[in-house]
Amino acid sequence: MTPPTGAPHPDWDDLDPGAGPALLDTLGRPLRDLRISVTDRCNFRCQYCMPKEVFGPNFAFLPRSAVLTFEEISRLARLSAALGVRKFRLTGGEPTLRAQLPALVAMLREVPDVEIAMTTNGTMLKTLAGPLREAGLDRVTVSLDSIDDAVFRSMNDMDFPVALVLEGIEAAAAAGLPVKINAVVRRGVNDHTLLDLAERFRGTPHTVRFIEFMDVGTTNGWRMDDVLPASDLVRLVDERWPLDPVEAQYPGEVARRYRYRDGAGEIGVITSVTQPFCGTCTRIRLSAEGKIYTCLFATDGVDLREAMRAGASDDALTALIEGTWRAREDRYSALRSQSTPGLRKVEMSYIGG
Ligand code: GTP
Ligand code: 5AD
Ligand code: SF4
Ligand code: SF4
Repeated sequence: MTPPTGAPHPDWDDLDPGAGPALLDTLGRPLRDLRISVTDRCNFRCQYCMPKEVFGPNFAFLPRSAVLTFEEISRLARLSAALGVRKFRLTGGEPTLRAQLPALVAMLREVPDVEIAMTTNGTMLKTLAGPLREAGLDRVTVSLDSIDDAVFRSMNDMDFPVALVLEGIEAAAAAGLPVKINAVVRRGVNDHTLLDLAERFRGTPHTVRFIEFMDVGTTNGWRMDDVLPASDLVRLVDERWPLDPVEAQYPGEVARRYRYRDGAGEIGVITSVTQPFCGTCTRIRLSAEGKIYTCLFATDGVDLREAMRAGASDDALTALIEGTWRAREDRYSALRSQSTPGLRKVEMSYIGG
């Protein structure tokens, strides 16, 4: 079997943030991951995330002054790490559109004992993979919904060719970055191309993870009929290349993993719709304008930017983050069936997936 990609993640019970017991929310979940959105912009218009009709030429993206500076981001990252965070994940929008991103990675690298990952559409990796790696990035996850060029061009809705993303993936691997591939599965859109995607990365160390299409935000016109249950997908792959389940690499791992019995590597499935994983959700999200959200499906965040710009001390900011986490009771996916349609949820491109 190909060894799992990425650095091993320690067991959360063994982690000692150096400041006493882990910070727990109302459901006993420790704070472990900080997902940092560095921009709300993207060079793609994936219909399930930033549909052109909404995110068109007149869409008001955040003005520069509203976006956190690198100093502000790293300050919050450092304070979160002191509260138990062990992984920073850079997201967007598309994080590589943020100017000087390697400089931010270098600043985050100064926080001890934290893994730094990034989720990207891969379009800028050809030039950025090397500098990001040198700055201290540990690994990347590239969103790639299909390797069928026509399907890919249509899904990104910018007619962007798949070959350039594949080059980006190669550049990342060549720079020494472990790579995972994320594919959002939409029934009737790309489900007929999934075996090709799996085949393309069989025999490489890059794990493909198939994600059930989620009802994030309010603009993607989600319907349950669009979701291909991960169990169907695993069956499909297993019929072609037999699979065995693999133990989770760390508690709270989002993807369920399977290995090809013939030794050609692994796949993963992210079952947020059919088998939610809220019970082990240790993630907090920082938006590009400095609000923290305790759930991907949150309607409101807590504004840290205003506090910072009004001169809040480290202790005051820590108290804000800590209080927000302690009060956390989110488990949206687990409760989805009872959810209120029309709830004004935050957009995925704003909060970074
Ligand atoms: P690893 O550290 O590589 O295990 O990555 P990860 O799974 O934590 O992060 P990644 O960004 O690759 O997540 C993959 C996808 O899973 C995201 O793009 C989302 O679609 C989904 N996802 C991640 N976190 C959550 C979550 O907290 N809730 C829900 N419902 N979906 C999530
Ligand atoms: N459902 C599931 N995953 C989504 N992503 C974006 N929108 C959705 C959705 N509606 C994924 C992207 C990327 C990550 C940031 O989030 O494909 O991998
Ligand atoms: Fe951009 Fe990723 Fe959203 Fe697609 S899914 S529009 S690449 S942020
Ligand atoms: Fe975590 Fe919210 Fe996703 Fe549940 S729905 S796993 S609580 S982010």
